[in-house]
Amino acid sequence: MMDTPKKNTIIEGIRAQFPILTQKVNGRNLIYFDNAATSQKPKSVIDRISSYYEKENANIHRGVHTLSQEATTSYEQARQKISSYLNARSESEIIFTKGTTDGINLIASSFGELLNPGDEVLISAMEHHSNIVPWQLLETRKKIKLKVIPIHKSGEIDLKEFENLLNKKTKLVSITHISNSLGIINPIDEIIHKSHKVGAKVLIDGAQSIQHEKIDLQELDCDFFVFSGHKVYGPTGIGVLYGKSELLNIMPPYQGGGDMIEKVSFEKTTFNVLPFKFEAGTPNIVGGIALGTAFDFIESLNFEECQVHELELLRYAEEQLRSISGIQIFGNSKNKTSVISFNVGNIHPFDIGTLLDKQGIAVRTGHHCTQPIMDFYQIPGTIRVSFSIYNTKSEIDLFMAALNKSIQILS
Ligand code: ALA
Repeated sequence: MMDTPKKNTIIEGIRAQFPILTQKVNGRNLIYFDNAATSQKPKSVIDRISSYYEKENANIHRGVHTLSQEATTSYEQARQKISSYLNARSESEIIFTKGTTDGINLIASSFGELLNPGDEVLISAMEHHSNIVPWQLLETRKKIKLKVIPIHKSGEIDLKEFENLLNKKTKLVSITHISNSLGIINPIDEIIHKSHKVGAKVLIDGAQSIQHEKIDLQELDCDFFVFSGHKVYGPTGIGVLYGKSELLNIMPPYQGGGDMIEKVSFEKTTFNVLPFKFEAGTPNIVGGIALGTAFDFIESLNFEECQVHELELLRYAEEQLRSISGIQIFGNSKNKTSVISFNVGNIHPFDIGTLLDKQGIAVRTGHHCTQPIMDFYQIPGTIRVSFSIYNTKSEIDLFMAALNKSIQILS
């Protein structure tokens, strides 16, 4: 999409729906470039949260009273909406979790119970800690073997090594769709296809893709897909785990408690059907409902236009950043989303991040919960800018001026 008056009007229309974007930070207009950490929330999501607490609050799946029934309906309607947005076969395959980390831990804990000593789990060298540590815990608990697919210097996955690592002992390939620190998009279609050929199941960490890519679960054919609501315009503390029902049905429950049972006695307990079998205790009701509203917001957008806009921001910012002397950009690939990780000479990322903040610009600095990637590049961390649909080229211009000023101060 060119920068036409029509496009500017569309982006202004989107921006107008995000109240926080008019906020001042340190006396400056906020420029929010930390969208990979969490997205901002449209007014519709914020309003849905208050209206739930003001008019509808009740526990779900438990009461005959009107409010409880209405809350149950809203919560289950949100599940249906998400299921249909993702094109799952049925909403019973959509389990509400606390977020991506919770979803991966659920699978490591429950699917992990089906694994035997010597079985192998493959992850990649670009995973977030949340897709490393649960498998290390499982390695200790079940004596499985965790193997790591290496990446090239560019940050792209080494597909040849991936194929070499795949074998009949591989029971699960757990891989991120998009790297949170490098922005690189993995060829998950190929990874899923090749993993299935040796009988391995595939878990896709969609924390960084749900907001940038249109996901069709049936077409993708992965076995599990997890994401967090807060990265896709919804609230924190709510997320989704999709799993194929034939797998979820044979997996043991993750946690025990109310709602996940069919019948409890001291002699024997039987479990509820999907998805409730994996949802013990009172859930984040308002979170689920407001996540449904976040998907309504997404459906109100022209998704393809938004993708083009984000990629234009990526190219525009990368081009300008490359003109800075001493800059090093990590993650070079044709297949990237709107995330740029970089360092400038020997300046510590934290120092640049602090000076940018003083000028009203929010970026993330540090290891981005991917310490192995930082070790791979032998750096302490990076400065990461990550764009969303409501960001603009003029914000990038202001960011570049602030960055150049910060570099001058720190050099
Ligand atoms: N995983 C989030 C990030 O990349 C928090 O910043």
